[in-house]
Amino acid sequence: MEQNEQKRPRIVVMGSYVTDLMGRAQRIPVAGETVKGDLFKTGPGGKGGNQAVAAARAGGSVAMITKLGADVFGDLALQNFDNEGIDRRFVIWTEAYPTGAALIMVSKETGQNSILVIPGACENLTTEEVEAAMSALLPADILMLQLETNLEALEQSLRMASESGLKVMLNPAPAQEIPQEFYKMIDFLTPNETEASTLSGIEVVSIERAKQAASVLQNQGAKNVVITLGEKGALALDDEGQFYEVPAFKVEAVDTTGAGDAFNGAFALALAEHKHLVDAIVFANAAAAISVTRIGTAPSMAYREEIEKFLFENSAK
Ligand code: RIB
Repeated sequence: MEQNEQKRPRIVVMGSYVTDLMGRAQRIPVAGETVKGDLFKTGPGGKGGNQAVAAARAGGSVAMITKLGADVFGDLALQNFDNEGIDRRFVIWTEAYPTGAALIMVSKETGQNSILVIPGACENLTTEEVEAAMSALLPADILMLQLETNLEALEQSLRMASESGLKVMLNPAPAQEIPQEFYKMIDFLTPNETEASTLSGIEVVSIERAKQAASVLQNQGAKNVVITLGEKGALALDDEGQFYEVPAFKVEAVDTTGAGDAFNGAFALALAEHKHLVDAIVFANAAAAISVTRIGTAPSMAYREEIEKFLFENSAK
């Protein structure tokens, strides 16, 4: 192992990989409507895969636990992990399910998107597969989770992390309620407004409501809660009951798809480097800001040097 490798924080991602099929048009069609688009791209995606790329590019030594179908999309996934230097020894193959796919529509007008994700193979991880992978990959600095894989796989990894004292970050996306007993095993819960509303039952339409939602989620057991608020930045509640409002950086967005993943991957890396919560959010905001100025999901993730340059150029503003 090179000396450099020893210093990089070890991040385990148990999550989804899917192939993104992205189409862009002036605006996103409404139900029953057809509109002509001007761009189509196929590439690596899935919230787990995207966050793994974001954390690796930001400087982490990242290992991925996921499941792929034995098909061309699965081959593409392996190429992607290899290109990004992500440890894929615990990427499992199956003949029983296809590699997942996401149909993404992006509006050229606003940079906003609509996504239909079919997780496929990665929604069928068994507890035995997760147990074997986690046992081999621990110890590590942080475990990163999302909600595109099946809940049994999530529960297994949460329990093993909690028993071994491994820090856990759960990005509860896409929005879905989670079992009550999961909360106490989460060190950092990172919903966006929609996800925070689903989990807390409080409609997050203002900073005040975000504070209320964060308190509800902390009362459920999550130690730290960070609610991402898009262009408004993030609202954090730490494990000592302190609230922080962290503004976002202003950039010209061309495609916001994967911005949450850019944030979460960089945030996990910063936490694994023991940055203070607010500094970790600023670092993650910079990674997210860079990603929205580029088209695509995993390919739009920022490298460490880019994040540092961005922070240097934008921090005083
Ligand atoms: O967060 C963006 C991701 O969500 C896309 O890459 C798509 O794969 C969906 O899972």
